[in-house]
Amino acid sequence: MASLLLSFVLLLLLTVSSAESKTFWADVAALKEFKNSVDPKSISPGSCLSSWDFSVDPCDGLSGETFTCGFRCDSVVSGSGRVTELILDQAGYSGSLSSVSFNFPYLQAFDLSGNYLSGPLPDSLSNLTRLTRLFLAGNSFSGSIPDSLGSMPVLEELLLDNNRLDGSVPASFNGLTSLKRLEIQLNNISGKFPDLSSLKNLYYLDASDNRISGPVPSSLPESVVQISMRNNLMEGTIPESFRKLNSVEVVDLSNNKLSGSIPSFIFTHQTLQQLTLSFNGFTSLDSPYYSPLGLPSELISVDLSNNQIQGPLPLFLGLLPKLSALSLEKNSFSGMIPTQYVWKTVSPGSGYAGFQRLLLGGNYLFGVVPGPLMTLKPGSRNVQLEGNCFSWCPATFFFCRGQEQRSLTECRKFSRVIP
Ligand SMILES: *[C@@H]1O[C@H](CO)[C@@H](O)[C@H](O)[C@H]1NC(C)=O
Ligand SMILES: *[C@@H]1O[C@H](CO)[C@@H](O)[C@H](O)[C@H]1NC(C)=O
Repeated sequence: MASLLLSFVLLLLLTVSSAESKTFWADVAALKEFKNSVDPKSISPGSCLSSWDFSVDPCDGLSGETFTCGFRCDSVVSGSGRVTELILDQAGYSGSLSSVSFNFPYLQAFDLSGNYLSGPLPDSLSNLTRLTRLFLAGNSFSGSIPDSLGSMPVLEELLLDNNRLDGSVPASFNGLTSLKRLEIQLNNISGKFPDLSSLKNLYYLDASDNRISGPVPSSLPESVVQISMRNNLMEGTIPESFRKLNSVEVVDLSNNKLSGSIPSFIFTHQTLQQLTLSFNGFTSLDSPYYSPLGLPSELISVDLSNNQIQGPLPLFLGLLPKLSALSLEKNSFSGMIPTQYVWKTVSPGSGYAGFQRLLLGGNYLFGVVPGPLMTLKPGSRNVQLEGNCFSWCPATFFFCRGQEQRSLTECRKFSRVIP
C-alpha cells in the first residue's frame, strides 16, 4: 500500500514537470551532450548549433524564433503501459495508477551536415532512440565511430561522410536492422569491413575514399543496390557471394589492391548494370560460357582500365546485349581487335546496344585497325586506340588521337608474335 502511494506521488510530480518539458527527456539530454562534445571553436556564430540554448523546449520551439534548426521531431508518440513499468522515467505521463498513457515528441531526424563542426561523436547520440535519419556529413568530426551507434533501432539513413573519422566501422552496425542508406565515404576509416548481413533493408552503401583493408565484404545483404568502395586498400578478388546479391545494380571497387582473376559470374549477373574495377591489380578475367545467341547480362558499363590484364580482348564483351561503355585501356591486352567489337561499335544488331565508348588505348593490340572503324565520323563514338602496337593508326583518325603507337622494340619485347 505504501509503495502504491509513493507511486502516485511520483506520478503527480511527473505530470507536473511534463508541462515544462515536452520533448522526451533522454533526447534533450543527448542533444545537450552533443553540443558539449563539439569543439566550441568550431561552432560559428549564428549557426544552427549556436542557436541551441535550451531555454525553449526543443520540439516545442520548432516553429518559434529560436531552436528551430538541426533536427525534426515526430508528431507526438503516444502509448500506454502499466505504471510499474514506467514509473522511473521522467517524461510526461498522465493517467490513473493502473494504466498510464504517455505523450511526448521524440527527435526523428537530426541534420547538422556541412557545418565544419569538430570534436568526437558522442556515445549518447544513440540515446536518440526514435531517430530515423542522422546526417552529420561534411563536418570535421574526428575520432572513431562510437559502437553505440549500432544500437539505434529505427535508424534508416546514416550519413557520416566527409569528416575526419578514423578507426574501423563498428561490428555493432550489423544491429542497425532498419538501415537503408549508409554513407561513410571520405573519412580515414581503416580495418576490415564488418559483417552487415543483418541489414535486410540496406540498399545504398558508400564507403569510398577511406583506408578499409582486408577482403571485399562477402556478407552484404541481398537488398543492396549500390556498392561504392573505391579508393580503399582492399585485397583479393570479387567474392563468390556477390552472385547472391539479386538487387545490385552498381559496383565500384576501383582503386583498391584487388588482384588475380575477375570471376566470370559477374559478367552475367542477373541485375548488375555498372561494374567499375579500374586501378587495381587484376591480371586476368574469366570468360563466362556463352552460346552463339549471346549472353544474359544487364551490364551497361564496364570499366576494367588500369589493371594488368593479359591475353586477347575477351570476345564475350562484344556480345553483351546492353553494354554500351567498355574501358579496357592501360592493361596488357594483346592480339587484334575482334570483329564482335567492330560490329558492336559500327552497326550493332537490332535489339543490341552499340558501343558508344570503347577505350582500348595503352595495351599491346596489333594488326591493322579494322576498316569499318575507319568509316566512323569523328565525335560519333568515343573510340580510343592510341598507345598500342597497330601497324598503322594515322593521326588523322580521331580514335588514334594524333598520338603515336608504341615503338616496335617495345612491342616486340612484349610479344614475339608481333610482326
Ligand atoms: C544515454 O543512455 C545511457 C544508458 O541509458 C545513460 O547512461 C547516459 O547517461 C545517457 N546519456 C545522456 C546524455 O542522456
Ligand atoms: C589516417 O590514418 C592513418 C593511420 O591509419 C594516419 O597515418 C594518417 O595520418 C591519417 N590521415 C589523416 C588525413 O588523418
